[in-house]
This record gives sequence, C-alpha cells and structure tokens, in this order.
Amino acid sequence: MGDFDERAFRNAMGNFCTGVVIATGRLDNTPVGFAAQSFVSLSLEPPLVALCPGKSSTSWPKVRDSGSFCINILTADQQSVCDAMAKSGGDKFAAFEWTPGVSGSPVLAGVLGYVDCDLEAEHDAGDHTIAVGRVRDFSILRDDAPPLLFFRGSYGAFNPL
Ligand SMILES: Cc1cc2nc3c(=O)[nH]c(=O)nc-3n(C[C@H](O)[C@H](O)[C@H](O)COP(=O)(O)O)c2cc1C
Repeated sequence: MGDFDERAFRNAMGNFCTGVVIATGRLDNTPVGFAAQSFVSLSLEPPLVALCPGKSSTSWPKVRDSGSFCINILTADQQSVCDAMAKSGGDKFAAFEWTPGVSGSPVLAGVLGYVDCDLEAEHDAGDHTIAVGRVRDFSILRDDAPPLLFFRGSYGAFNPL
C-alpha cells in the first residue's frame, strides 16, 4: 500500500455524512470524553452500539478504564461543544453543564439524546479500535432541535426533503 493516497481516501470518506457525538466517561470522579463521528447502532438483541476511538486519543484510555461510556448526540447549535471536546488536553468539561447517567458518565446539557453503555468488548482495527457498548440506558431529550452533521469537513444541520 506504499502508493496508497491517504489524503484522497480521507477526502472520499468525508462524503459519508454523519452525526456527531461526544463519548464521555468518568474516571476517579473526573469527566473525560472526546468528539466522534464513528458511532453506529449495532445490535438489538442484545442491545449493542459501537464507537471507533483512534489509538492516539488520550481520552479514550481514560473512558475505557472507567468501564462504561455514554454517547451524547449533539444538536446543530452545539458546534462549540464539539470544538471543545475535539481538543486534546485541559479540562474539556469546565464550560459545560452535565449530569451523571446511570453509569456515572456525563450526559451533557442540551444534547439531542444519549445512550449510556457498559464497555462490552474492544477490537483492534488498524490505527483505531472498535469499542462495543452494551446499552444500559438511553433517552431522547429534545424533539425540537436538528442534529449536528459533519460532511466534507464542514458542519451543517439536517433539512428534511
Ligand atoms: C467531527 C469530528 C469527528 C471525530 N471523530 C472521531 C472518532 O470517530 N474517533 C476518534 O477517536 N476521534 C475522533 N475525533 C477526534 C477527537 O474528537 C479528538 O480530537 C481526539 O480524540 C484527541 O483528543 P483526546 O486526546 O482528548 O482524545 C473527531 C473529531 C471531530 C472534530
């Protein structure tokens, strides 16, 4: 794969529009988390979801060590939350209100909804891993807000056809 064009691949994959989530955990009572688009609903029986953390993430090992993670689905007016959670280091949660979900992981104020999970398995996958979560609790908190979308490196909101 010496001549594989990584930039072209990244740009091509950017054509797959996704929502944006914040994956959170709480280690030694400290909230930890990061922004992610690699979230997918995986299984109904049992209820499973998956998330793909990068191996360079400094937050994922802390979330992993907490044994659970909470997926916070962002609304279109929460780009500032995404920006803060995509930065490495510092207290990412200082500017935001949150309450603990059943696992103790933060549920951020104003999110469209959340899925709180126990970490069921983690599979190796190149420069990422595939983290599988068993759903313990979930809720949709806002019917009035469009989701934050990520497409070709830009943010947008959903417009029904
Ligand atoms: C829109 C968007 C989507 C992202 N998706 C992922 C993702 O799926 N997996 C991941 O590990 N990092 C993803 N990141 C990067 C992380 O948010 C973050 O920058 C990275 O984990 C470094 O922070 P950390 O050291 O605190 O973990 C994404 C960032 C943005 C802005």
